[in-house]
Amino acid sequence: MKKITYIDEVSITSQTVLLRVDYNISLTKNSQIADDARIQQTFPTIDLLLKNKNKLIIITYLGRPNSRDPKFSLKNVAKRLQEYYPKYRVTLIDDFLTTDKSIFTKQTEKEILMLENIRFYPQEKNNNTEFLKKVSELGTVFINDAFGQCHRVEGTIVGIAHLLPSYGGLLLKKEVKMISKIIESPKKPIVAILGGAKVSTKINLLIKLTKIADYVLIGGKMANTFFCAQGYTNNQSSCQYDEVENARRLIYLAQNKNTKIVLPKDVAIAYSLDSEITQIKKINEIPNKALILDIGPETQAEFGTIIANANTIVWNGPMGYIENPHFRIGTDFIYYTITDNQHAHSVVGGGDTLSAISKKEYLDKITHISSGGGAMLEFIEKGTLPGIEALKK
Ligand code: 3PG
Repeated sequence: MKKITYIDEVSITSQTVLLRVDYNISLTKNSQIADDARIQQTFPTIDLLLKNKNKLIIITYLGRPNSRDPKFSLKNVAKRLQEYYPKYRVTLIDDFLTTDKSIFTKQTEKEILMLENIRFYPQEKNNNTEFLKKVSELGTVFINDAFGQCHRVEGTIVGIAHLLPSYGGLLLKKEVKMISKIIESPKKPIVAILGGAKVSTKINLLIKLTKIADYVLIGGKMANTFFCAQGYTNNQSSCQYDEVENARRLIYLAQNKNTKIVLPKDVAIAYSLDSEITQIKKINEIPNKALILDIGPETQAEFGTIIANANTIVWNGPMGYIENPHFRIGTDFIYYTITDNQHAHSVVGGGDTLSAISKKEYLDKITHISSGGGAMLEFIEKGTLPGIEALKK
């Protein structure tokens, strides 16, 4: 059977390594780094490779640019990596296609090169073979540690793995191991908590969850579509009308599989997003022009009891409109309840989920914080990802 070889299972020494990472980190409005957890999560891989005298060429993307766009430059990312590795010189290569090739041929073991945002090249998205050949010629081996981007069928995730000897990094290994536990041998009761905006991007995952989870707790904006499916309508409730049928189907499927889909029974409402005044309403009492912006206390109590009794927990997506701190209460509550349950295997994924939490003092009480958002959900749904398949030999 084909399988991935990880970098701690072979000896990779004195190579020029093309190291694919996910440094798609959150930025502030003026393009400063808001959170560099994704950089730090790659240190075990970087350290092992440097210890074995490899020269590193780091490849990643940031944001979703279609071509060169200074807003998405990796300048600050390279600077941050330099701060963490003061004994090495980190150099950002503005355009590897046109730059003087001597920067690569003269690279020493004490120098880490980083290619500028790989999505600046439209060929990356198209998996363009000529382009990938040029990338692969820069190194002697390819190592993928970009779990959070492995659901993308893009050049330096998929195509390149067929052009060089290819291995998985240590973060990738950890992610696969920890998330696989949820799909392969989970301890029941299994509770999935899903929030965030859109049902449409999560519908297949929800279908999969009805096969494995005992409870699926739904909050966030996506709960509105389920309210519609149950016949509750509200003028501004952001129901995804084209998904109502799917939501109904899901409720039906879940009933047949003995999975309990638990929807909020009460919610926090306001009349504008920046409101400081919150009212709690049952979902059959929501006034026409109200905005549903968080889960309510009765819902917290119900979700909390289910989470406290769980043996496996997976959580992705905020419960409310977290941009306004008045509507973070439900999300913070879920976080505290999960961290309070110390007998469960808990996996929390997605940068958005983490940045939604007000205080992060108990993160070490979560069994695994995934570096992937979409990638984590797709891995649970499908049991693999395109970037992982490409590494299997
Ligand atoms: C993420 O932030 O979830 C990953 O880096 C993937 O980003 P993408 O959705 O822009 O491909």
